[in-house]
Amino acid sequence: MQIETFENPEALALHTAQYIIDLVRNKPDATLILTSGDTPVHTYKLITQMAEPGLFDKTTIVGLDEWVGIPPTSEGSCRYIVEENLLKPLNVNPEVYTFFDGLSDDLQSECKRIDKILLDKGGADFMIVGIGLNGHIGLNEPGTPFDLYCHVSQLADITVSVGQKYFKENTALTQGITVGLKHLMEAKTAVIIASGARKAGILKRTVEEKPDPELPSTIFQLHADGRIWADEAAAALI
Ligand code: PGA
Repeated sequence: MQIETFENPEALALHTAQYIIDLVRNKPDATLILTSGDTPVHTYKLITQMAEPGLFDKTTIVGLDEWVGIPPTSEGSCRYIVEENLLKPLNVNPEVYTFFDGLSDDLQSECKRIDKILLDKGGADFMIVGIGLNGHIGLNEPGTPFDLYCHVSQLADITVSVGQKYFKENTALTQGITVGLKHLMEAKTAVIIASGARKAGILKRTVEEKPDPELPSTIFQLHADGRIWADEAAAALI
């Protein structure tokens, strides 16, 4: 596991944006798994300023996860956050990207649909994730086996309460649908981005504890090219 520290959130976002742009310039048909959450928003905004038109035209982009029962038009959905901050401003063709449909009445088919995209591509070239305060990766909550592909998860209590920050109104969250950790292991490069002092404790545990499904982020220790990119506040304890 490689750890890189950046002076502040802006430097972290700039590095991440430049890395993604360079990756796609070198491999225009790259497969990317992109996360939502607060952490990547600045990165996505920078990409919209730095990328040339059409950069993502040949990529395959998959959204990391989605809240079950939440429509894609909700400001808290994964699709909304990635579309509004990255894909729409860049006019990325909707044919090259897809997200889980959290409203589907057949969530298992949704899982199989995303599995097939990733497996047909031979795994993602690059997967970027945030880290939950409980070590969740995507919506792979503590206790999730490392060898699952896409699946439906029961949300941890802390995920339900912290998740309220993405919504304007109090929102009932119970389940998630998520890219699984087996896809993470099969991604050529997997990166956790972390910003702010509240992530310092969980990053310390991620680095120091034995890999264990009870702390999903520890899977990064097992990844052939697993990286943590953190600003100084998040990296303060590692
Ligand atoms: P955040 O979310 O970027 O909003 O902190 C991280 C996560 O829970 O995956």
